Amino acid sequence: MCGIVGYVGEKEATPVLINSLKKLEYRGYDSAGIAVINSVADSDESIIVRKCKGAIKFLEEKIENELVRNAINGNVGIGHTRWATHGEPSDLNAHPHTNVSGTIAIVHNGIIENYAELKAWLQAKGVVFKSQTDTEVIAHLLNYFYTQEDSPSKGDIFKSVQCARQKLVGSYALGVICKDYPDRLICVRKESPLIVGLGQNENFIASDVPAVLEYTRDVLFLEQDEMAVLYCDHVDSYNGDGEKIIRKSFHVDWDLSSAEKGGYAHFMLKEIFEQPKALHDTLAAHIKDGGLTFSQEINPEEFNSMIHNAKRIVITACGTAYHAGMVGKYTFEKFARIPTVVDVASEFRYRDPILDKNDVFIVVSQSGETADTLAALRLAKSKGAKIIAITNCVGSTVSRESDYVIYTLAGPEIAVASTKAYTTQLMCLYMLAIQFGFIRGEIDKDEYRKVLDALQAVSKKAQTILDNQTEIQKFASMQFNKEKIFYIGRQFDSANSLESALKLKEVSYMHCEAFAAGELKHGPIALVDKNTLVIAIATEEALYEKLISNIIEVKSRGAATMVITNDDTGIFNESCDSVISIPKTDFYLESMLSVIPAQLFAYYCSVSRGNDPDKPRNLAKSVTVE
Ligand code: F6R
Repeated sequence: MCGIVGYVGEKEATPVLINSLKKLEYRGYDSAGIAVINSVADSDESIIVRKCKGAIKFLEEKIENELVRNAINGNVGIGHTRWATHGEPSDLNAHPHTNVSGTIAIVHNGIIENYAELKAWLQAKGVVFKSQTDTEVIAHLLNYFYTQEDSPSKGDIFKSVQCARQKLVGSYALGVICKDYPDRLICVRKESPLIVGLGQNENFIASDVPAVLEYTRDVLFLEQDEMAVLYCDHVDSYNGDGEKIIRKSFHVDWDLSSAEKGGYAHFMLKEIFEQPKALHDTLAAHIKDGGLTFSQEINPEEFNSMIHNAKRIVITACGTAYHAGMVGKYTFEKFARIPTVVDVASEFRYRDPILDKNDVFIVVSQSGETADTLAALRLAKSKGAKIIAITNCVGSTVSRESDYVIYTLAGPEIAVASTKAYTTQLMCLYMLAIQFGFIRGEIDKDEYRKVLDALQAVSKKAQTILDNQTEIQKFASMQFNKEKIFYIGRQFDSANSLESALKLKEVSYMHCEAFAAGELKHGPIALVDKNTLVIAIATEEALYEKLISNIIEVKSRGAATMVITNDDTGIFNESCDSVISIPKTDFYLESMLSVIPAQLFAYYCSVSRGNDPDKPRNLAKSVTVE
């Protein structure tokens, strides 16, 4: 949902801003722009703003000549890549936005809910707006507080930001520059994520860590309502009341190569192929002395007592992470025998849920910044539930606000469609489920060890699937024009079907649905005809026969059929046009494997249809607005 960046330092700001923006393009690519405080003293343009509709490459093309001529000079600047909410994607609606005189420029990620009211108020004072965005009101509001004769913040940009934010309702991460303060950049956040990168004689702001990795791995995660002022040689942090505070920096282990394509055509493909390592790393980081350990920061006695007292597990998340939660339900009920419910975060938060201190509330979020997931977390916390977060992002808001954090060690996930985050989330849910089962005496030490061994073997098995991907690539090249695709499965496979269908929808734009296989004949089968492809996921031997009946039902109505299965006896050969084999595992751990062919199928269908799988239309990776 939009990415913002900012730079203060000894270098020319523009190339750094463009470079950093490219790492955030997954957050939006409807338009892009930069603003730089002009270091040429007698220029007409005190702040140089360049912006245009479309991806960052169009902005680059637009300013290419100026860069060659060294015509955009300045060491302090801000940048933005947009996912449009208010106002269509256009040059005018692109950020940065400025005050009328062009002396203050801002970039914004979030939504200003009361913008219409503020706009009317400013228009009544004679302000002429150029764009349809909610963001432009912030630039004019800042100008108002900065220039108004009787304003307590007149001539003081820091105070003007403080005054302006008092008027704003909604969410924002803001970067602000002002021509009268050519040595600094001001930033502030409420709800929307914002980090500060700490370099040597240069400092940065960004919506997410990958944007600054090329320059530094030391970052500050701004907390709710905090502000920071960045200079070339230091950063001052402030709390919501404007008091100076000392913030602890984090060292991020992710390296630059993990945020680059590394020879793959797309980030999505690279991330699919990173799954064996991500699965291995996620598990390895939690194994100690032959058992599981969750974090140095987690007090094991406290953690175990929470596990003992748990009456119910509630898992909440959005999108792919929600699908991981659905598999999680099966794992918790199987290994720990605890009733488990799963909820979409945006639904959970509005239905006055019943929760108490004996409920364990698990939030799953790759980014750790999803607005609905965060709201659900806060609601559960207010009702006394213990919160466990599964997230990929160290220092994210979800990680900071939860009682316990289990990290997926997937590395940065850049492609909009989640792949390695999903399988590592599953790994964490399996780990937690067997820990719950063991501590509660539902599984004994022997079984615990056996499941751990099986979990350890998953990474290699994932590699085997990837080594044999040509079959799925071939199948995609034959099926990418199908009108309708249905995924079906039972139990764990039914949850994985939902994720498989989501992947295909997101990147190929093919109409795809997932059904619990037994539900087909209760309605959806009416949709099946010769333009339909039905993909079955079949990893539970005891349910093979039932699934074969479902496959035959659709086949006899003209559908093409494929199965993703761990069967090695050929039982599906007759009913399916194509059989994609995956290795067998014990203890129903196949969920981490059966989704991989589906991810590859989605990727290859997307490419065959001429789409860019890394940047699916209408989507952005981190949904930090409700
Ligand atoms: C789909 C996808 C989204 C996210 C969802 C939650 O490929 O990536 O459905 O899973 O927006 O995001 P996080 O996990 O960051 O909370």
